[in-house]
Amino acid sequence: MTSKRLDAYLSKLGYCTRGEAKKFLRIHEVKENDLRIFDVSKKVKHSSITIDNEPLDSESLTILMNKPEGVVCSHDDSGKLIYSLLPLRWQNRNPKLSTIGRLDRDTTGAILLSDNGELNHRLTSPKSDVPKIYRVTLAHPIADSVASIFASGELLLHGEDKPLLPAKLTKIDDLTVLLEIVEGRYHQVKRMFGAVQNRVQALHRETFDKWDIEKLQSGEYKILDFK
Ligand code: URA
Repeated sequence: MTSKRLDAYLSKLGYCTRGEAKKFLRIHEVKENDLRIFDVSKKVKHSSITIDNEPLDSESLTILMNKPEGVVCSHDDSGKLIYSLLPLRWQNRNPKLSTIGRLDRDTTGAILLSDNGELNHRLTSPKSDVPKIYRVTLAHPIADSVASIFASGELLLHGEDKPLLPAKLTKIDDLTVLLEIVEGRYHQVKRMFGAVQNRVQALHRETFDKWDIEKLQSGEYKILDFK
């Protein structure tokens, strides 16, 4: 395992800036193998450090969140950002946590946030075919023909020249369906129902790839283990 200056770890993991590190060490009990440290430049191993008797946050972080309504999956929007739901030090990590793909402001449900660029690319690239299941509440009763239109692999969205890959629609009741898609085009689900003269009233993503948010309340999140 590599060693880094303590102040480099503290700023990378969002505990404080490098400039604040000296003060941080006075206020918090930062220990290396149980011996308190006051020297911000000391070279240390990540695994040997504790802060107030807690291990350091992991060097790479990936989180599954049940996104609530009204927050935006962006770093630079004027609205309330999804990142504001996280502990402050996670908001200050460098590299930053970013959402893996996006959900609209009014869409709820499963979303990953990660600082792992390779994972982000793997799960969002057009070739990735990651399955996502949405629970869709519709404005009008679902027509019988829609499941086969979505499954056909021939549906063309307005303004696009490449048809959508087949998607699986399961009817729950007249106004509620589950929709499984493997792509992630802009406003895809809303545009799909628009293409069949219906309208999405509420959209909730139940699963993203193998992750579901069954046990997470709205706004709750958990750390995913990628070891
Ligand atoms: N499709 C949409 O239209 N909106 C989302 O937020 C996700 C998928």
